Parts: sequence; structure tokens; C-alpha cells
Amino acid sequence: MADLLQQLLTSPIGRQITSTLSVPIPPELRRHEPGQSLAHGPVLVLAADGGAVQGAVTELLTGAGVDVVDEVTDTAAEPAGDGRPQRFAAIVVDATGITRSADLAQLHDLLHPVLKRVLPSGRIILLGRPPEDADDAHTRAAQRSLEGVVRSLGKEARDGTTVTLVHVAAGAEGDLDAAVRFLVSARSAYVSGQVLHVGPAPSGACDGIDWERPLAGQVALVTGAARGIGEAIAEVLARDGAHVVCLDVPAQGDALQRVANRVGGTTLQLDITGDDAPQRVIDHLRERHGGVDVVVHNAGITRDKSLANMERGWWDAVIAVNLTSQERMNDALLDEKVLNEGGRIVCVSSMAGIAGGKGQTNYAASKAGVIGHVEALAPKLAERSGSINAVAPGFIETEMTAAMPLISREFGRRMNSLNQGGQPVDVAEAIAFFASPAAVGSNGTTLRVDGQHLIGA
Ligand SMILES: NC(=O)c1ccc[n+]([C@@H]2O[C@H](COP(=O)([O-])OP(=O)(O)OC[C@H]3O[C@@H](n4cnc5c(N)ncnc54)[C@H](O)[C@@H]3O)[C@@H](O)[C@H]2O)c1
Repeated sequence: MADLLQQLLTSPIGRQITSTLSVPIPPELRRHEPGQSLAHGPVLVLAADGGAVQGAVTELLTGAGVDVVDEVTDTAAEPAGDGRPQRFAAIVVDATGITRSADLAQLHDLLHPVLKRVLPSGRIILLGRPPEDADDAHTRAAQRSLEGVVRSLGKEARDGTTVTLVHVAAGAEGDLDAAVRFLVSARSAYVSGQVLHVGPAPSGACDGIDWERPLAGQVALVTGAARGIGEAIAEVLARDGAHVVCLDVPAQGDALQRVANRVGGTTLQLDITGDDAPQRVIDHLRERHGGVDVVVHNAGITRDKSLANMERGWWDAVIAVNLTSQERMNDALLDEKVLNEGGRIVCVSSMAGIAGGKGQTNYAASKAGVIGHVEALAPKLAERSGSINAVAPGFIETEMTAAMPLISREFGRRMNSLNQGGQPVDVAEAIAFFASPAAVGSNGTTLRVDGQHLIGA
């Protein structure tokens, strides 16, 4: 969907006007392309005292062909010899050893001298410990402080640079491959100001993985695949090697077939709110594919109106499509053991489910419910070496958002640290990350893909 305002602002005349009026110009974000190197420059890996993961991160990045730097070279030592300071595609700081508020000053000392050396579309990644796992109050406070740093730095970053925090649970020090690769790469272009939790993965989760096609040989089901975010999810999962079963309502049959043809997948036409929908999905997956490895609950609708003016039917429709259908389908998938061992479920929630939205009591209820559902089912999935997670998109450029009134649309689009709406592919990349076999240590979590929307934590 063309963002006309962005085109205007970035035209030569538009630039002149915006600089006079101090209107922020949306930066062009670097996005993933097959075969692209993980990082578009050297990655600086630093550690505060007592850091437990610097070595593992250096090793995994080096193994991925990244030029890792562990100390800042001065101007004269700059490799290109052109007298300019060395610049970095990403700065990773191991802050797992920070256990006292006084230690936080090390973050200032490590980051302050290098923040202006980050390339456009750069990454700043802090690695910490989950505060709730801390043994004492000082450690918990100090680790919680990292969130404040990341959320603020995300708002200060420029030129498409994103800032994220990874909570590394005890025992997960060697299981950071998928998370670090996702966050360093262009796949996480629209993820900023967020915390990603990584727990210990079952041994061998990364063994023999082809990082370009991590889903090779797997079957994935995507609901709402005929257009918008669902279409992009189907494309990205197919790119990553999966056979994609594209599901949508019969009225979208032609569009659905076009998507399936393009991604080399197959179609399943049904309304997910139908009484027999879970059984039909189960039968289809069992008979045609012998099971399923990845299930993405993306189909969703809005019926916005203030609660005072909302008909009961609008409430019911939104809850039925966005939440109840996911619950029914997941119950059936787990009860009938159609989800293969190690299987992944990824549910699409929304920023509205976290921060609420005017005229969206029904929608926000459904999307907050998705987060609760994911948290509740996580232990069941872990028993099967699998995972269930949610992504919460902010403003994404689709037909759903194109239908919004102009003023709300422009506000929605700009109210984030990257000053622009996200693309469907940004949500799809986050889903592909959770679907990857190597990301199994992340379970029961919700990741916002919203360019760090200015509302909501
Ligand atoms: N676009 C955004 O900014 C945004 C933001 C936050 C969350 N989301 C969520 O992302 C998901 C996709 O959004 P989108 O913008 O691509 O929407 P969209 O309206 O463009 O596409 C949704 C798809 O779901 C299908 N669908 C709807 N009801 C269905 C049903 N009962 N059975 C089967 N399929 C059904 C539709 O036919 C359509 O193809 C939704 O869950 C939405 O709530 C979107």
C-alpha cells in the first residue's frame, strides 16, 4: 500500500519543507533478501563485567560469517584508512553480569562512545537476564533497568536503527542462535523497544539447520492467507522451505488460489468460525500431510465502534474469529495429536490487545485474549518439544488499515519510533522466527512488531 505522505516527504521539495518544519522523515528500512549477509557491516560485541554470553554470541556471529569486533578502534586504526571512524551494523552488549544499580554505569561507558557509529538500519541489542529469575532484589532491579534503557534508546535511535533486549534464562546461554540472528538481521526491521525471552532449548535444536531454509520438509498452515499479512506469512514460510496450506473463506477462493500457486502450496477454503471447522482442518492435515509442523493463526477482523454504540453482533463476530476460533483449533490440534512433535503455533495478536484502542473493546478483548491463550498453552507445547507464541503487530500497511479514516490512519502510521507503518513482511519475518526449529527456547511470549509504538509498554 503506497504511503503517499512518505513519498511526498522524501521528495526534494518535501525534504525542504520537512526540515523547515522539523517533521521527522521516515527512514528507509533495510529488509531481508535471500542470500543477503546477516549484517551489513562489522558487529561490535561488548560486555559489562561478569557477562556470561559474550563468547557464545561472538562464536555464533563469526560462524555466520559476520566480522565481529570486540573493541573500538580509534580513527587512525580504521580499516579503510580513510580517517573516518569505523561504523557498525550492530552493537551487542552482554549485560547479563549486571547485578547492582551502580553497575549500570558500565552501559553508559560502553555505549556512549559508539552510539554515533551505528550504520543506518543498525541494531543495538542488549543481553540480560529475566528479572523475575533473580535471586535478590538488587539484581532484579538492575536487570529490570535494562528495559528502561532499551525502551528509551529505541526512541532516541535514528535512521532506522532498532534497539532490543534479549532475556537469556539460565541454561540458555548456548541457545541464542535464532534470536541473535533474527535481531541482528534485516528480518527484524520493524521490531524495536522490545524484550525477547529465550529459555533453554531441547538439545540439538540447531543441529544440521539450514539457516536459509529452516523449515525445509515441514508443513505449515496459515489462516487468512488470501491477502495482507497472511499472504506475506505464506510467502515467507514457503521461502523458508515449508509446504504452506493456505486457508481462507470461500469468498476469497480466487485470491487464495493465486497465493497458493505463487508459493507452491495448497488451499483449504473454510470459515474458521464454522462448527465443524476444527475437525475439517484436522482431517485435511492428517489425510493430506500426515500432520502439521507450524500453525499460524492470522485470520482476523475488526468491527470498530464505541461500546455504547456497538451492536452485540459486532462483539460476537470479532471474538469468534479472532479468539474463539484459535482456541477451538488449538484444542483440537493438541487433543488429536495432529501437531507433530516439536510443532509450533504462532498466533497473531495486536498492539490493541496491549494498549487498547478507542472503539475497539471487542477487538482489544480478542487480541488480549490471544496473549492469555498463548501463555496458558505454553507448558503443553513445551511437553511436546514445541512452542506457542504471539506476535502483536502495530500499524501495518494492509487493506485492513487502508480502510481506516484518513486522520486516524496517519496518526497510526507515524506514532512509533520509526515514523512509518510496517509492511506485512515485517510481521511475517517475526512469525518465521518463532516457527524456526532453533527458536524453540522462546515459548509463551508475545513480540510486538510495531516500530516501537509510542503507546503501551
Ligand atoms: N494490519 C494491521 O495493521 C494489523 C495490526 C494488528 C493486528 N493485525 C492482525 O493481523 C491479522 C491480519 O490482518 P490484515 O491486516 O492482513 O487483515 P486483512 O483483512 O487484510 O486479511 C485478513 C484475512 O483473514 C481472512 N478471514 C477473516 N475472517 C475469516 C474467517 N472467519 N475464516 C477464514 N478466514 C478469515 C480474510 O478473508 C482475509 O483474507 C489479523 O488478525 C489482524 O487483526 C493487523
